[in-house]
Amino acid sequence: MGRLIAGALLIGATCVALLSFTGEAGSQEIGTPLPRAARAPADNPTTPAKVSLGRLLFWDPMLSGPRDVACATCHHPQFGYAENRDLSIGVTGAGLGHRRRFSAGSAISPVKRNSQTILNVAFNGSDVTGQYDPAAAPMFWDVRARGLEAQALEPLKALEEMRGQTYAEDQAVQAVVARLEANAEYRRLFAAAFPGERAVTAATLGKALAAFQRTLTAANAPFDRYMRGEGEAMTASQLRGMRRFERVGCVRCHNGPMFSDYKLHVLGVPDNPALPASDTGAGERGTGERYAFRTASLRNLAFTAPYMHNGLFETLGDVLEFYDDVDSRRRSDRNPNVNREELDPLLRQLRGVDEDDEDLIAFLGALSDPAFDRTTPSRVPSGLPVGGRIQ
Ligand code: HEC
Ligand code: HEC
Repeated sequence: MGRLIAGALLIGATCVALLSFTGEAGSQEIGTPLPRAARAPADNPTTPAKVSLGRLLFWDPMLSGPRDVACATCHHPQFGYAENRDLSIGVTGAGLGHRRRFSAGSAISPVKRNSQTILNVAFNGSDVTGQYDPAAAPMFWDVRARGLEAQALEPLKALEEMRGQTYAEDQAVQAVVARLEANAEYRRLFAAAFPGERAVTAATLGKALAAFQRTLTAANAPFDRYMRGEGEAMTASQLRGMRRFERVGCVRCHNGPMFSDYKLHVLGVPDNPALPASDTGAGERGTGERYAFRTASLRNLAFTAPYMHNGLFETLGDVLEFYDDVDSRRRSDRNPNVNREELDPLLRQLRGVDEDDEDLIAFLGALSDPAFDRTTPSRVPSGLPVGGRIQ
């Protein structure tokens, strides 16, 4: 009891301290800690049977047209469930992370975006108070999908990710469902996970993958522990960096427990020169303005370099240099297709960004939690290599 009160007092004191630093006009409070576990939509409660089925599906290359790529190929625990290369290589590739290459004679292009981490994706859409709706959670850099259940079927249909030239886009999901249905072990696992429903369908495939991904949380970073009352959890440098993060204005977009407002903003990050055409982000599908991308979460950046929607920046120093250039009105680091007036007003309001700010970088380090589930299944029901051709 005494400890609880002491803890509450400490949290209270922390909030007062933070408020005193956020008192300036227009500035905002830093986020709250992450909850320990994630909520699921009403029609897909998380159960152990769904989670263990979802894990096998996530690692099974049978879900891809040529049976060579699994979800885990591009979302690998070794890289915080992202990968350490700028643009993903899907079907007809071999190797893992920056070692991954297309096999000789491949006619497939790289995916045009950087792989997002699955860690804490369960909390996507969290607002400043930590509220979120798992059924409508924003997905992808351009928010073209909502909810993990719906998102899970998209990579199956994407030519460069998992479909390849094996079947047409509108037949991809049914083709994968038919493969699963034909596998006795999957039939049994689906029936156990979805009793009373027609077991192997596109909907249950999405639900199982979603249920597994909701368990991939990392919610005990030094920042979370500090906000829950462990005064010693963050270093002096990290605390200075946290105040700087608020004062310069990063927090206006990177807020809430995920350090993202989940909105689309025009930052003018340059295109990745490896791409044949400029990536106009949300503008392309009409989900938002030209060159608008979703505010990236700042969780677990220690494991998920390179950064930005196209993996253009290798280090956090490079990212700060980009923001420093916007602040100082230098153009060198910006996308030439985006005029200064088109940049997000909250970006133009940044003041005092310093690319050599070690405290700010130390603070970002306090948002990473290495104690996440790195379990790899020893085999998958298809009998194919676990995780695809990643050796
Ligand atoms: C070839 C690499 C590749 C494969 C295979 C792949 N992904 Fe992804 N994934 C990506 C990339 C790249 C993005 C970002 C795409 C974008 O925003 O346009 C992404 C985004 C996501 C997101 C959105 C995360 C967020 O915060 O919005 C989820 C969830 C996800 N993938 C899950 C999966 C699942 C489940 C599978 C397997 C069915 C899978 N991925 C297969 C590369 C891959
Ligand atoms: C106007 C809103 C806004 C402001 C202000 C802002 N950011 Fe961002 N941030 C974004 C968006 C949007 C992205 C993704 C941009 C893209 O990929 O093109 C992003 C991406 C990032 C990334 C890359 C993360 C990843 O996983 O790739 C980091 C790191 C980052 N911001 C840190 C900061 C810091 C530090 C500040 C303050 C100096 C800041 N941001 C200010 C909106 C903002």
